[in-house]
Amino acid sequence: MCGIVGYYGPENPVDVIIKGLKTLEYRGYDSAGVAILNNGVFKRVRAEGKLSHLEKKLSTETFNGHLGVGHTRWATHGPPVEKNAHPHVVGGASIVHNGIIENYAELKDQLIKAGSIFHSDTDSELIAHLVSHEIEIGKDLFHAVIEILPKLEGAYSVLAVHEKYPEEIVAFKSGPPLVVGKNEKEVVVASDLQAIMPYTKNVVFLQDNEILHVTGTKIEFFDDRGQKINKKETKVDWNPELIEKQGYDHYMLKEIYEQPRAVAMAMGPHVDLASKEVRLCKVGFGVGQLEDLEQLEARADWENTLKTFEGVERVFMVACGTSFYAGMVGEYLIERLSKIPVECDIASEFRYRHPVIPKNSLVVVVSQSGETADTLAALRLAREAGAKVLSICNVKNSSMDREADGHLYMNAGVEIGVASTKALSSTIALMNCLAVALGKAKKQLNEGDEHKFVEALLAAPSHMESVLAYDKFFAEAADTLKDFRGFLYMGRGIHYPIALEGALKMKELAYMHAEGYAAGEMKHGPLALIDQSMAIIMLAPSDELYDKTVSNLEEAKARGGKIISIGSGKNEKLEVLSDHYLALPEVEWTINPLLELIPLQLMSYHVADRLGKDIDQPRNLAKSVTVE
Ligand code: M6R
Repeated sequence: MCGIVGYYGPENPVDVIIKGLKTLEYRGYDSAGVAILNNGVFKRVRAEGKLSHLEKKLSTETFNGHLGVGHTRWATHGPPVEKNAHPHVVGGASIVHNGIIENYAELKDQLIKAGSIFHSDTDSELIAHLVSHEIEIGKDLFHAVIEILPKLEGAYSVLAVHEKYPEEIVAFKSGPPLVVGKNEKEVVVASDLQAIMPYTKNVVFLQDNEILHVTGTKIEFFDDRGQKINKKETKVDWNPELIEKQGYDHYMLKEIYEQPRAVAMAMGPHVDLASKEVRLCKVGFGVGQLEDLEQLEARADWENTLKTFEGVERVFMVACGTSFYAGMVGEYLIERLSKIPVECDIASEFRYRHPVIPKNSLVVVVSQSGETADTLAALRLAREAGAKVLSICNVKNSSMDREADGHLYMNAGVEIGVASTKALSSTIALMNCLAVALGKAKKQLNEGDEHKFVEALLAAPSHMESVLAYDKFFAEAADTLKDFRGFLYMGRGIHYPIALEGALKMKELAYMHAEGYAAGEMKHGPLALIDQSMAIIMLAPSDELYDKTVSNLEEAKARGGKIISIGSGKNEKLEVLSDHYLALPEVEWTINPLLELIPLQLMSYHVADRLGKDIDQPRNLAKSVTVE
């Protein structure tokens, strides 16, 4: 899950490529590099660590050229040191690669036997060897790529350039995304839209096994046998302001604060304010082409969605990380409101457990990026099994969005912090809408209940605003919290996924030991962990499981744990039992997850900040995980 950018045009390629890589740095930040055609030869500059290290090196260099490629790396094969940084250069060829070449050992072995000398530990370098070799024996750059494609197994998106072809970039992919945009004077090709947006809003997304051939400002598309194909341009909406920090110290904090708005934007298209009804808008089942969604008549589409949902007998939620926890929240909501059985699967497990997917299943894939490799593979598996796939993505036109049968959008705005925050809130809002829609389709939800749940959802953003006030509490409490040996997050029912999410946030931001548990499970082992050095975060908002949760809290208290409890409204019992009691507004049970996750995010944020951790770019992680 690296980021790649290629440029042809009159600007200084270094400036365009670095600007683009900055917007892609969330994809990986182990090392970075550029290769710029400079007076007819590629000049390569690489640096270990973040892009800023590369920028420092580049500040003393001058370039005179019009074409180049760049890369920001998340290490898979070989440690994050300079020799493994991209671009990889062999002969006159330079390549940047995002992904994994699965048969690299075999290919590398063959190349070494044939006399090639490798300078890195990466799988990627062999692509440069293969391209260079084909050109040495007489192929041009485009045909060199056609020649090597059948040899590559795995996931890749690659940009290849060669000194003999100073006007050309050849790009190809199988798996990770690639998108290209051009205006009258320049072409930018990159892993993600944001690197292209300053130059044009009209882009073309490459599909797997397609090749892009850039020759000057001309762009042409081919299949993997070299047959020319026609591709449609997509016009994308983009607001550059959305990717500024706007005065916050970190993107993550800004994104935490954006959650009330994100929830409003997610549910907005799907709830009717006047009638307090859910009508999912432009889901597009049966429409086929994503572009045609714009032309859909909303009411006709909703009737089609209802019809599709009437036939659903089973729901699968498939996702990774925080998106998986959003899926778990969906499980509780959908089973209660629609009585349809729901199975939740971590995508990397789902795809390999030979899942039985009955044809009348709805498989919901949740992904902020829409590019997570395991979730994308699960989507494809589900479609092959004949199930209907509904994607819930934040990034429009992402691979999942393009391949799904139906589409819901988080509408959270660009999420830059590697730790996901507002995408989760948006998805929980959508899960509320989806549960109501399925409940209606299955005739399990009466009008009164629908109005009740919709009203609760509509009120959620303003309740969330009030919960953000706990920012101040955690800014102070972080000083004490940072010294705990570990954190146990507990909740029952719909609070359980939020407990898991709380623990994930603490792990990924503060690098501290944290576990999420179903509170009733504590006595089956984890209670042994509890002593004075363990912080217990108990999610106990009022609902039907409240009394049982309080009993679990008493058990933890009796073992000496330090307790922060989070509940609804004034609650003397929780106040007495806890070292700190945080009161949330009293709301419908369906909305509690949206409120309780905010203090957990703020807690991890402030503990990590106090420990001096890199909040927006935690070590070893990347925002978009496009490898298995
Ligand atoms: O883009 P996705 O939603 O598919 O990403 C899934 C996970 O990689 C992501 O949620 C990850 O767990 C976050 N770093 C959590 O904060």
